[in-house]
Parts: sequence; structure tokens; C-alpha cells
Amino acid sequence: MTTPERLAAPPQPIEPDDATLSAWLEETADYAFRQMSGAGKLPSWNTEGAAAVVERVKSEPLPERGMPLEEVLAKLDPAIQASFTTTGPGYLAYVPGGGLPSAALADLVACATNRFVNVDLAAPALAELERTTLRWLAELMGMPQGANGIFTSGGSLSNLAALVAARAEQLGEEFQDGTLYYSEDTHACVAKAAKVAGFPLRALRVVPVDSRRRMRVDALEQQIEQDKTRGLRPFFVVANAGTTNTGAIDPLQEILRVCRARGLWAHADGAYGGLFRIARGGDRLLPGLGGFDSLTLDPHKCLFLPYGTGALLMKDPEALRRAHATSASYLQDVTAGESLGITDYSPELSRDFRGIRVWLPFMLHGVAAFRDQLSEKLALTRWAYDELAREPLFEMFDEPQLSVVALAAKPPAGHALDANAFGAEVLKRVNARKRVFLSSTAIGGRYLIRICIVSFRTHADRVREAVEGLVAEARALATEG
Ligand SMILES: Cc1ncc(COP(=O)(O)O)c(C=O)c1O
Repeated sequence: MTTPERLAAPPQPIEPDDATLSAWLEETADYAFRQMSGAGKLPSWNTEGAAAVVERVKSEPLPERGMPLEEVLAKLDPAIQASFTTTGPGYLAYVPGGGLPSAALADLVACATNRFVNVDLAAPALAELERTTLRWLAELMGMPQGANGIFTSGGSLSNLAALVAARAEQLGEEFQDGTLYYSEDTHACVAKAAKVAGFPLRALRVVPVDSRRRMRVDALEQQIEQDKTRGLRPFFVVANAGTTNTGAIDPLQEILRVCRARGLWAHADGAYGGLFRIARGGDRLLPGLGGFDSLTLDPHKCLFLPYGTGALLMKDPEALRRAHATSASYLQDVTAGESLGITDYSPELSRDFRGIRVWLPFMLHGVAAFRDQLSEKLALTRWAYDELAREPLFEMFDEPQLSVVALAAKPPAGHALDANAFGAEVLKRVNARKRVFLSSTAIGGRYLIRICIVSFRTHADRVREAVEGLVAEARALATEG
């Protein structure tokens, strides 16, 4: 007689025995410990020799038989090192990400237990843990009772889910005549979201900004009225709670007023800046944030968590369900009442347990730790601005609205380099020191050096180094011209 044992010989074991498992965990923890405790000593970026590492990764054959963990980690390590040190204190470029050690603990627990949180019946208390954490975030943002949402992979997906919900609520299935509005300095992912959500380019309205890069509400109103007159259906306005470029905060309350008066959906993109509402005085910094219909947050920026941790909060979370929920017979065993659970509110079914990455650090550190960190970042930004403003070789773009300082170079008259080339050279030289890593942007044809202070490992000493480095390199370059 055929038995399963005869048909299928036992495979090579893939599950370690207890002793091996314990040794693996120890070895990996050791590796992670060295990475985390040494993050401050690493160069701020290290991609110069990356091409050789890329080649080695590319030429690695798929092994037929496995190798010891030590060897695997030894192969991985050069690829990790050959990168921008995004977890380091000197990472002040773009919008810095996090890498909080407590979130790594959360991920280890999440992967080790691998529960399914997107369907309520599969892990009811864990699904509730996610909803509770989202409710905490909504409360911190000043949103009304009942506000909730979903964890996403990041701001891009949060903005997309918000747009899809607004589209369904405001326009229905035939939406080609809908129009949406956002400022010139809005993150490119909003236009991408519109494209993915099926809107033609002609539906997008880019609203001009004022001298501080904030949306001009008069222009917004004008565009909306013009579109209405042309028989179009204005439905969605994105307000920036901190732009990526300069940290500009659009006039949130005025935008809300315009949306309320005309029945448009008000969405706030707070991927970079929204979480600064937790800082001391944050409600004055971002007035009206809690009144938006939807709000994008990126805990992988200002809660210092690992990449892949985004959130979308909704005043009426049921709008997400109406936009996303479907049913399937193969899920009939786990359908409880109306809803399957989180999956009904999002485009995803299977996914990682992201909520634990926010929940565990909140539980371990308390929200006060984040309030202190964010307040410190705002104070350091102000200090950097004041110091750099004293240097005649620089011209500050604007007073910081959040934690970005943007500045242009002002070379001495007759210098061989024009202001843009001078600024680019200063940035190159400061970055070449590998103590800090800064990035740049361009506004109105002007090259601007940007400092963005977000990392939990960035404190006064490293910000001072950034400022002193910029001043020293600019002065040295000025004498060369
Ligand atoms: C204001 C803003 N919106 C959206 C995004 C996109 O977020 P993510 O990279 O998490 O998709 C960013 C990223 O920097 C951002 O700064």
C-alpha cells in the first residue's frame, strides 16, 4: 500500500533544532548589536566602492546547498556597509529615515511569530492592537473621535489609498471629469498616485506657492472656480504638512475652509512633517491638522522607525472600507459579520505586521521620549539656521518652518564660480569629510543646500559639525577663487 512516507522522503531539515536556532539568534543579535551600537562611528556615506560590491552580489550563484550563517552574514555585510549610513547621526539628507533599535525587536517578534493580522478572525487581538495604535496616532494628531486608518508601506501608498477613497466617495465609478489640486512643492508621489488611480494628466492642477513655498490659497480658489465653470468636478485638495524641499507648511486652516465651503475632500500630506505635532508647541506649528478628511504620516521618518512603516489616518475610516472591500468564497470561514478586518480597508491582503513596529516602541519608550526627540530636532534646526545666517557667504532661503534649513551660496564678487556652482562645490566638500551627509534642491533656478534634521541619533554635536563644516568649506573656497 502507498503511504505518504513512501511517496515523499523526508527532506533536508529546514527548521533548525533548538540548539541551532538559539545559536543563530545569538549570532544575528550579535551582528545587529554591532551595527546599532556602532552606527555613530560609521562614515556618513560609503558608496564610493559600491560598484565592486554590486558585481560580487550579482555574480553570486544560487547555492544548491546552504552554508553556515557566519558565512552568509559575511557576504551580506559589505553590501550593507556600501551605502548611505541612513541610521547614522550624520545623515541629514533628503528626509532621513530611522532604524530605532526597539523597532528591530518588534520586527523580530513579528517575523518569528508570523501571525496574520489583516483578517480579524486570524489574530483578533493583534488586529485590535494595530487599530488601537492608529487611534493613538489619530489622537496625537488632534483628529476627532472615531478617526482611524491603516498602516501602509509608506507615504506614497498612504497618499494613493487616500486618493482612492476620496475618488470613490466624491466621484463614484465615472471619475474622468474629477480634478485634484496640490502645490508646486508637493511630493512627486501625489502625481504618481493620481496616475495609478486612473486620472488623466489633464485632471491635475498644480497650484502656485508664495515666497515661503506655501500653497497660494487665492490661486487654489481661482482654479477650483474655473474648473467648476468648465463643468469639471473638483474633488480633492492636498495640503502639505511639511514639504520635502524646504519643510514648508501650507495654510492648513485656510485650505480646510476652502474645501468645507465647496464640499471637496481635504487631504494632508504629513509624511515628513505631520508627526511634529507631537513636539512641544506642535499644535501651534500645524494648526488645523486634525480637521482633515485624511492624513498621511510616515512613522519611518519622524517616529524614527524602519523603512516600510507608513500610516494613513481618516476622519471616517469607513470611507476606506467602501472604497476597498470585496468578498470571496474562499474567505467565507473568516468573514465575521460585515467585515473581514483590516484588509477591507486597504488594497493589501497578506502583509507584514507593521503595527507592532509602532506599538512596541511606544510601549517601551512612552510618547514623551518621541516628544522630547522631536522638540530637540526643532531646536537644533533653529540653532543651525541662526548660525548659518551669520555667515556672509550664505543666504538663507527662509526661516525654518519645521526641521529643514535651506541656503544658497553667496560667493565673493569676482569669484570664478557662480553662486550655484559655489554652493554645489561647498556641499561636495562637506560631504567628502564623511561626517555628515547633506543633499540639495533647486528652487527657481537657485541651487540650495539642504539640512534636514530628523534622525534620533542626530544631536547638537553633529549639527554643530555640519554648520562648522559648511562655514569652513565656504570660507576656504572663497579664498581660492
Ligand atoms: C511630504 C512627503 N510625502 C510623501 C513622501 C513619500 O513617502 P514614502 O517615501 O514613504 O513613500 C515623502 C518622502 O520623503 C515626503 O517627504
